[in-house]
Amino acid sequence: MTVKDSKLVTTEELAEMDAQTSYTSPIFGSYASDVEMPETELNKMPIEPRIASEMIREYIGTEGNAHQNLCTFVQTYMEPEAAELMKDTLEKNAIDKDEYPMTADLENRCVKIIQNLWHANQDEQPMGTSTVGSSEACMLGGLAALFRWKALAKKAGIDIYSDHRPNLVITSGYQVCWEKFCRYWDIEMRLVPMDAEHLYMTPESCMPFVDDHTICVVALLGITYTGCYDDVKGIDAALTEYNKTAKVPVRIHVDGASGAMVAPFIEPDLEWDFRLDNVWSISTSGHKYGLVYPGIGWVMWRSKEALPEDLIFWVSYLGGEEATMAINFSRSASQIIGQYYVFMRNGFEGYKEIQKRTLDVARHLVQGIKDLGIFIMYEEASEIPILCWSLDPKAGKKWTLYDLDDRLRMHGWQIPAYPLPENMQDVTCQRIVARADLSMTMADKFLKDMKAEIANLDNATVIGSADTNIAPKKSFDHSGR
Ligand SMILES: Cc1ncc(COP(=O)(O)O)c(C=O)c1O
Repeated sequence: MTVKDSKLVTTEELAEMDAQTSYTSPIFGSYASDVEMPETELNKMPIEPRIASEMIREYIGTEGNAHQNLCTFVQTYMEPEAAELMKDTLEKNAIDKDEYPMTADLENRCVKIIQNLWHANQDEQPMGTSTVGSSEACMLGGLAALFRWKALAKKAGIDIYSDHRPNLVITSGYQVCWEKFCRYWDIEMRLVPMDAEHLYMTPESCMPFVDDHTICVVALLGITYTGCYDDVKGIDAALTEYNKTAKVPVRIHVDGASGAMVAPFIEPDLEWDFRLDNVWSISTSGHKYGLVYPGIGWVMWRSKEALPEDLIFWVSYLGGEEATMAINFSRSASQIIGQYYVFMRNGFEGYKEIQKRTLDVARHLVQGIKDLGIFIMYEEASEIPILCWSLDPKAGKKWTLYDLDDRLRMHGWQIPAYPLPENMQDVTCQRIVARADLSMTMADKFLKDMKAEIANLDNATVIGSADTNIAPKKSFDHSGR
C-alpha cells in the first residue's frame, strides 16, 4: 500500500490534523469538536485526544451521580492514591503470572488474607483465586460442587445420566448468577420460598429440597433483595445430620457477595464460614464491601479435596507452576492491586471502622424512615448496611413506591421500587444499600428530600398509580433477573 491509497490519510490531511492539535483552540471552539460521536462505524479520521475524552465525559455525565445511586452494592469511592495506583497498573494482565510475578504474589497474599478472615485451616490446604466478580466466583464454586457430586454419585451407584438432573438448593431471593449457572450446566434450580416471617432460608425451609441429586446448598450471606442472611449455621447442623446417612454428602457454598466482607469485621462471633464443617466454598465481591472499584471477586475452597483437580489449570510461574481456576483468561490486574492496597491501607481495624460507620449511617436512615410512620421495614441494617421497606397499606396513601422512586430521582437519588420474589411478589419494596461514601450529611439530605417528596405526593391532585395504574408497575430488578 502507498500513501496514495485513497483509504489512507494523506500527508496534507495529516498536516491539517497536526495543525488542529496545536492545543491552542478551546475544546468547544475547535473545528474537530464538530465531529459526530461514532454510533455504528468508526469515523474516518482520528481526532484530538482532549476533544474525544471531553465529548465522552459530557455524554456519560448525563447519567447520574454514582454517589447518589443507593441501589448498587458496588463501590463508588476509592481514595485517590488507590485510584492512581490502579490507573498505573491497568496494563498488567493478571493471567501472566510469569511475566508479572510480583503482581501474582500480591494476589496470593490477598487469597491468604481472605482465607484467614474466613477461618480456613491452612493445614487443610485451602485453595482460592480472584475473579472478575461474584458471578464468576459463584460459577466456579458451583462447578466444583457439580464435579464433586458427579464423582461421588458415580461411586455411590447413582445414575448421573438419568433424566433425574442434578439439583442445587437456594432461596427464591437468589441473584441471577445462580440461574445462569443452573441453565448453562443443566442443573435443576430448587427454590426455597421465603415468607413474611422468614425473608431468608432456614434449615426447616431448606432440607425438604435436598436429596441424592443435590450438588450443594447455596446459602446467601446478604440476600440481594433484602440484605438478610440465610441461617448458615442452622443449615450446616441440619446437613451434618443428613450426611450421616446420605449416599452423597451435601455441602454448602456460601455466596457472601456482600456479607462475607462485612461479617468478619462486624460480627466476628457469627459462625457462617469455614468454621462450619459443611461450608466447602465461599465467594464474595471485592468490589462490594471489599471496597474496590468494580471488576474483582474472590472464591475460596476449604481444602484441596473441595476443589476437584479437573477445575485446575496450571500456568508457569517463577520457574514452577501455579494453579489457576478461572472462566476468563486475560483481564487487568489493577483490581487485584487495588484490593491489596485496601487491605494494606485499612488493616482489620480500618475495615471495621468503615463497615461500622456505614452501618451507623444505614441505621440512622432506618430510624428516619421509621419515624415517617407510613412504612413497614423488612430489613433494618441488622447485619449489612442495607435497609428495605414497603408502604404500609394502613397508611392509606394514594401513591405507590414507584411514584416516590420517580420523585426522588428529581433530587438525583436512585432508589428503585421493585417487587419481592416468588411467594412475596405482591409486596413492593424500596431498598437502600449504604456504602462507605454515604455520609451522615448526605443521609440527612436524603431524609429531607424524602419527606418533601412524600408531602408533594400527598398534596398532588393528579397522581395516578394506586388508583389509575398510570405509574409503571415494574422497575429495577435487584436480582439481575
Ligand atoms: C448474593 C449475590 N450473589 C452474586 C452477585 C453477583 O455479583 P457480581 O456483580 O460481583 O458478579 C450479587 C450481586 O449483587 C449478589 O447480591
